[in-house]
Amino acid sequence: MKLLVNLCFILYDMDHNQVIKDSFREELQLFDKYLQKSIASDNPRISNVVKHIFKVCGKRLRPILVFLSAKACGKITPETYHGAVTVELLHTASLVHDDVVDESEMRRSQPSVNAVFDNTRSVLVGDYLLSSALMESIKTQNIEIISIVAALGRNLVEGELNQYAIATEIIIDENEYFEVIDKKTASLMRACAIIGAKTAGADEKTVAQFGQLGQLLGIAFQIKDDIFDYFSDDVGKPIGSDICEGKITLPLIYALRNAPESETKQMTEIIYARNYSPSTIKTLFDFTRANGGIDYAYEKIDACISSAEKIINEFTFENEMKELMQLLLIYLRSRKF
Ligand code: FPP
Ligand code: MG
Repeated sequence: MKLLVNLCFILYDMDHNQVIKDSFREELQLFDKYLQKSIASDNPRISNVVKHIFKVCGKRLRPILVFLSAKACGKITPETYHGAVTVELLHTASLVHDDVVDESEMRRSQPSVNAVFDNTRSVLVGDYLLSSALMESIKTQNIEIISIVAALGRNLVEGELNQYAIATEIIIDENEYFEVIDKKTASLMRACAIIGAKTAGADEKTVAQFGQLGQLLGIAFQIKDDIFDYFSDDVGKPIGSDICEGKITLPLIYALRNAPESETKQMTEIIYARNYSPSTIKTLFDFTRANGGIDYAYEKIDACISSAEKIINEFTFENEMKELMQLLLIYLRSRKF
């Protein structure tokens, strides 16, 4: 395992997520079977939409985090699989609903559910997946896990609602930004790590450490996701999507705070007029880059990574999962989609 991780350091362009996925190949195969079973429906009005949603396999980051945490704490149990399916279903349900809220046409490089079908079916099939997630969580037979999953839905909704309010009222504030990403993204990753540790029978202190680790990974993940908006349309959605949806994310928040007043004034005029066109978006993005917004966002990712490393080093168990955790940290910073 150590050799594998070292190789990944050397081969910069290597797909780290693929290496991590390969380490859990068998688990992910069984996971897929559990997943298919949990979403099966003999009503074609449901199954046709569900088939479209799962046509493209996501990164599987959340189930991997569940498996990684469980294996680190001892071993993967049948309850771990139910936990992994639960979080993947909850996550997928939230993305289906999110594309309705954001009026997004693309998801995972294919047309979103609302684009292919319509909002009504997106909302209802999203609900179907959410309900399937709750049913799956019951199979863990662990009331603490069921409670975590039930509470998680509230966090995601609160994050999304706050984000909507901030976009509508055009609030440009770093603390608000961090509160939103903590609720809408980090809360789920936190739950993944906790569920993994709990299904392996970890003690309370270890479970809490895994919770902190998951949360840091979630924050780093979302900041990187937000950076993509400034650069690449290879990530499954067009460049500038966030800003067009009114989302002012960390790089721009920082640049607006840091730039000379004359430049900031011009940028805030574009933002308050919601004057978003390819040319004004380019102006905003050039401004963000020139005023250190991207570098600042990476600094925040690095701060999360070093806090996460500290937690990993404090873990008392000694097994190859620690190496994979390090690899996951590299992946979160360097991922290209
Ligand atoms: C993606 O964010 C969206 C989320 C992380 C959470 C979405 C949550 C809801 C819609 C609340 C409903 C919750 C349940 C349980 C059904 P993004 O829009 O920044 O990312 P994107 O660019 O991938 O769309
Ligand atoms: Mg969205």
